[in-house]
Amino acid sequence: MTELKKRLAYEAEFIENELSRLLDFEYLGGHKMAEAMRYATLGGGKRIRAFLAVEFCKMFGGTESDAANYACAIEMVHAYSLVHDDLPCMDNDDIRRGKPSCHKAFGEDVALLAGDALLTYAFEVAADAPLALEKNALAVKTLAKCAGAPGMCGGQELDLLLDCPDYDSLKKLHHLKTGELIRAAATLGYIASPCKYEEDIANRISDYALSLGLAFQIEDDLLDVRSSTEELGKPVGSDEKNGKKTVLSYMSIDEADAEAKRLSTHAAEIFDDMECGEIVSKLPIYLLSRKK
Ligand code: IPE
Ligand code: IPE
Ligand code: MG
Ligand code: MG
Ligand code: MG
Repeated sequence: MTELKKRLAYEAEFIENELSRLLDFEYLGGHKMAEAMRYATLGGGKRIRAFLAVEFCKMFGGTESDAANYACAIEMVHAYSLVHDDLPCMDNDDIRRGKPSCHKAFGEDVALLAGDALLTYAFEVAADAPLALEKNALAVKTLAKCAGAPGMCGGQELDLLLDCPDYDSLKKLHHLKTGELIRAAATLGYIASPCKYEEDIANRISDYALSLGLAFQIEDDLLDVRSSTEELGKPVGSDEKNGKKTVLSYMSIDEADAEAKRLSTHAAEIFDDMECGEIVSKLPIYLLSRKK
């Protein structure tokens, strides 16, 4: 196994344990929603966003414990986004991470609430990070912006409009719906490190994360046509079913592969001059060959 694969497996297990501990509760209203929150968050998912948070923290001199709250908060926001994305009013998909989607397992009402509760709990967990107040406020605000109307939610709305006239407008959509949360992950990792926050480093991190995010969503679009539901753990052909514009609305599969490679190569070069930049530099190219 390569060093990167080992690190991915190791950090995924670390995050899984942290998430499991944080989600070990019941609410007064009953236990279905808490169970749905656990169901949607635990036992699946590549944990790429958590990995980025932890690795950027380590790259700037921190530890995985320093980044743990932010990494978990971002995975909770991500899990909520998937619960809502699968609802009948959105992509109407019945399978997620190899099991029935949250609304199939718990009903639409509970799934909606579990998503809401994951989003709000994520901010409680982020606010609890063991950091100086000023840094923590910056992290929480960054997460809010990247997840909200100027970020992921805004991208999800564009995704519903189905009217990207050209590849540039699809890129904007991908940037918002996928890139911004990935940017939050890498940036919050950096903020969690003991390094002083510097704008030019944050800008380099954004450049890395947004390029990786665009390549990641291109791969996601490609997997929707060239994988199988068994391997992917979510229904293939979902984009076509919903008449979604994807990268393949504007280019061939070969051109899309080349575009993902170009973006990933750009991301890989941003920190390759840093001594501790090896893992984050290898990740974008590694993700090009992901199978799910
Ligand atoms: C799926 O994200 C949604 C996108 C933004 C493409 P992931 O492919 O990271 O999903 P999990 O967390 O591994 O299930
Ligand atoms: C969703 O994009 C991105 C989110 C913000 C949830 P997709 O709709 O393509 O994600 P999948 O393919 O269902 O995972
Ligand atoms: Mg969608
Ligand atoms: Mg979807
Ligand atoms: Mg998709």
